[in-house]
Amino acid sequence: MQDYEHFIGSFSFDIRLAESDIVGSIAHAEMLTKTKIISTRDGKRIISGLKLILKDLKRGWKIPREEDIHYAVEKELIRRIGPVGGKLHTARSRNDQVATDLRIYLKQEIETVRDLINNFQKTLVEKASDNIDVIMPGFTHLQPAQPILAAHHLLAYAWMMQRNKDRLLDCYKRTDTLPLGSAALAGTSFKIDRQYLAKLLDFSNISENSLDAVSDRDFAIEFVFCVSMISLHLTKFCEEMILWLNPAFNYITIGAQFTSGSSIMPQKRNPDCAEVVRGKSGMIFGDLIALLTMAKSLPLAYNRDLQEDKLPVFDALDNIKTCLEVINKMTDSLKFVKDKTLKSAKKGFIAATEIADYLAKNNIPFRTAHGIVKDIVLYCQKNSKTLEELSLEEYNKFSPMFKKDIFVHLDFENIISMKASYGGTSKKSILRQIENIKRNLK
Ligand code: ARG
Repeated sequence: MQDYEHFIGSFSFDIRLAESDIVGSIAHAEMLTKTKIISTRDGKRIISGLKLILKDLKRGWKIPREEDIHYAVEKELIRRIGPVGGKLHTARSRNDQVATDLRIYLKQEIETVRDLINNFQKTLVEKASDNIDVIMPGFTHLQPAQPILAAHHLLAYAWMMQRNKDRLLDCYKRTDTLPLGSAALAGTSFKIDRQYLAKLLDFSNISENSLDAVSDRDFAIEFVFCVSMISLHLTKFCEEMILWLNPAFNYITIGAQFTSGSSIMPQKRNPDCAEVVRGKSGMIFGDLIALLTMAKSLPLAYNRDLQEDKLPVFDALDNIKTCLEVINKMTDSLKFVKDKTLKSAKKGFIAATEIADYLAKNNIPFRTAHGIVKDIVLYCQKNSKTLEELSLEEYNKFSPMFKKDIFVHLDFENIISMKASYGGTSKKSILRQIENIKRNLK
């Protein structure tokens, strides 16, 4: 190996693309044979040589190191079948080859990540169904705002995950364009058949412009953006799990295996898994920035900078796969502490909006009603009372419009069932949401 070959090479990380590379090469050899660019005899020798290398790799055999995986496979082929192996690289360059390999690889992985999201969604839906009657405070600014069903909160994440799945599907469509046949940058004078290649490799489209095809890494960047978005959503979820596990909240419990003890404070159970998933976002967002920065300002067409796309893509991919698996299992172990969430909902005057709505429905302008209820809350705070504890007489001191039925409006189950607007937190709406999201699940 020459002095800087290791530095400029990519073997240590693009070895991951070995299978995609060989699959791409087999298709290329088949195309070269079909178009009679190489003879059937040579084509057959090349293809069976490649298949053997793939078989050996799958058995755990280590291919000798070269500058990159493309050279490694080609050299190994020549070692095994002789100089005829050198015909494989006819009408092809490593530039269209590497772009093809990465697309083949990512198309599979996009499907894997979508499946993992799907599993997480299923768990969320299951938890929502199992806890359909659990009442908790909904927050804005992390301050108690209005009572909601815990199921509504969980389903919010199921919908975020649905968008992530859709986004990945969209990314898949753009990844599904085959660059092979663009050669180094200008196309080739050999009479190749790119449509045939696309058919063999199961690509929906072939690229229209060879310069664009060999330099385009948009799909990889887009993939890492999709991953970043999933990661972002997971940090929100983890943050809430961490809060809810805090004894001050005590809303939930999770399996002990997702927590760890402290080396000094015997009483502690720390929510480490949720914390690590939250922390992994740093690397994942970093991967996105790394890719954007690597790709910016590059003149057409291929530049060696592009080789550096793989590490961030693989890193983001590996991390999100583990994060989704861990979070899915952790969520599966989640149990609500029903009386704690309800007790917490009873603090913080979260029925106040309901009282204002009650007055507004009795023809008092909402703004005036808002002022009246604000005074009621102040009165409660001064007299250490909750809204439910006030008598009708006390309510009437603030407005004659209050009738006995005001107390019905203070009942949490009622408050929630009245939020029957489409997408609201009523049980009816939750059941509809569950039905609708299930249509998106495999
Ligand atoms: N290892 C290279 C990469 O990953 C393959 C392409 C090399 N092309 C070149 N013109 N040097 O990008």
